[in-house]
Amino acid sequence: MIARLFLATILIFVSNQVFAEEVTYRKHIKPIFDAKCIACHGQDSAPEYYAFKEEPDKWMSKGKGMRMDTYSHLIFYTAWPDTGSIMRRLDDGKVAGKEGNMYVYLGSNNEERQKNLKLFKDWVGNWTTKRWKDITKEDMDKIKVKY
Ligand code: HEC
Repeated sequence: MIARLFLATILIFVSNQVFAEEVTYRKHIKPIFDAKCIACHGQDSAPEYYAFKEEPDKWMSKGKGMRMDTYSHLIFYTAWPDTGSIMRRLDDGKVAGKEGNMYVYLGSNNEERQKNLKLFKDWVGNWTTKRWKDITKEDMDKIKVKY
């Protein structure tokens, strides 16, 4: 009996690993983004990254960040050119050393934040906080960001 239970547990564990669903932008990340981030990073009023950087105070005073509301915009903050930005800002502190200032927006409680952080991590594929000057080609190759 115990042996059977043990075997069943192992089987469930193994099949979960093998058939684990791939995390994609369309299925997993966009819904989180639309619920948690779009108010400040949406197309309606948020500027492109470089326009934001020209007048950060103006945009911050309106409570706006830079536009990230499409797949193409969002991946700008993963591998290149704003390398590691999503990873540094969304990290809970375990990888980055300190909690990123956007982590708090991932959920209304710790459980939700951790769940959504895990989805972001799985989506990115390589949760490196390195900047462009430090990142290697091997690091870059492991960044997946599936559409
Ligand atoms: C209440 C408004 C607000 C919300 C909600 C918000 N952000 Fe931000 N975000 C900002 C502002 C303003 C900045 C620019 C100031 C700064 O760098 O901290 C910013 C900066 C960032 C940056 C850094 C970009 C850079 O300069 O490299 C990233 C990445 C980011 N946000 C991701 C997110 C994600 C992902 C979410 C949702 C989980 C989110 N933010 C939710 C306001 C917000």
